[in-house]
Amino acid sequence: NKTAPLPEDIRAMKGGTPIVSLTAYTTPMARMMDAACDFVLVGDSVGMVVHGLPSTLGVTMEMMILHGQAVARGLSHAMLVIDMPFGSYEESPEQAFRNAARIMRETGAAAVKLEGGRHMADTIAFLVARGVPVMAHIGLTPQSINTLGGYKVQGRGDAAETLLADARAVSAAGAFSVVLEKVTATLADRITAEIPIPTIGIGASVGCDGQILVVDDMLGLFTAFKPKFVKRYASLGAEGEAAIAAYAAEVRARTFPAPEHTFADKAPRG
Ligand code: KIV
Ligand code: NA
Repeated sequence: NKTAPLPEDIRAMKGGTPIVSLTAYTTPMARMMDAACDFVLVGDSVGMVVHGLPSTLGVTMEMMILHGQAVARGLSHAMLVIDMPFGSYEESPEQAFRNAARIMRETGAAAVKLEGGRHMADTIAFLVARGVPVMAHIGLTPQSINTLGGYKVQGRGDAAETLLADARAVSAAGAFSVVLEKVTATLADRITAEIPIPTIGIGASVGCDGQILVVDDMLGLFTAFKPKFVKRYASLGAEGEAAIAAYAAEVRARTFPAPEHTFADKAPRG
C-alpha cells in the first residue's frame, strides 16, 4: 500500500476537498472502494454487519485483526484504519499501546481508531508519542451504548459544551482526525470550525471535513434497520435476493446448469 496517504496527509486535508471514507470488512469490498476512498475503516461494526451480533460489544481483537488483514489485501490506494474493539484500550494507556501495536503489526494498518473524548485524551497522547496515529471517535460511541442509554442524537442543549470539550481534548492530545457520530449539524459545524484536525461525519453535517458510512448500509446490504443518517446508494440486498430466487427456480426447473456450464466427454477441437 505504498501510494496510500499517511495520517499526516489526511490531517492536511482539513478545510479542503472533503475526505471520502467507508467501512470495509472483506477483500472484495476493499477492492471495490480502494480507488474512490481516501481511507478505509475496518469498523467494529463488523460484529453487527457481518457476524450478526446485537451490538459492537462482543467484537474481539482476533476479529478486528482477521478482517483487517483481509481488507489490507484489497487496498493499494486508500489508507487503512482499524477500530480498537471494546475492552482492548480503556484500562490503561499501556494496554491500549500493546493492542494498537499488535493491530498495526499484524495488519499493516496506518492508524487505529478508538472511542472516547476527554477521558481518553491521556491514552491518545500516549499512543501518538509512541508511533501510533489515532483517529478519535466522539458523539454517539456505540461501545458505550449501555451507559449512553440508547442510540440517541448527541450534543443537544447543554451536552453541546461537553462534546465541544471532548473534540478539543482529542485534538490537543494529538489525534490526526475525529469521527463525529450522530451529533446535531450545528454542533458538528461548530466543532469543525474550532478544532485544527479534520472532522469525519456520520450523521453529523455536510460541513464536516469528511464523511464516512458503513458500506453495507449504503449498498443496501444490511437491512435489519436503517438509521436516518444512512443514504442507500444501491439495493444490493434486494438484488441478491432476486438473483438467488432466480437461481433456485432454474435449479428446480432443471434449466440450470445449461450446456455452456457443463463438460462434454471430449474437449472441443481447435
Ligand atoms: O464501526 C464503525 O463502522 C464506525 C464508523 C461508523 C465510524 O466506527
Ligand atoms: Na466503530
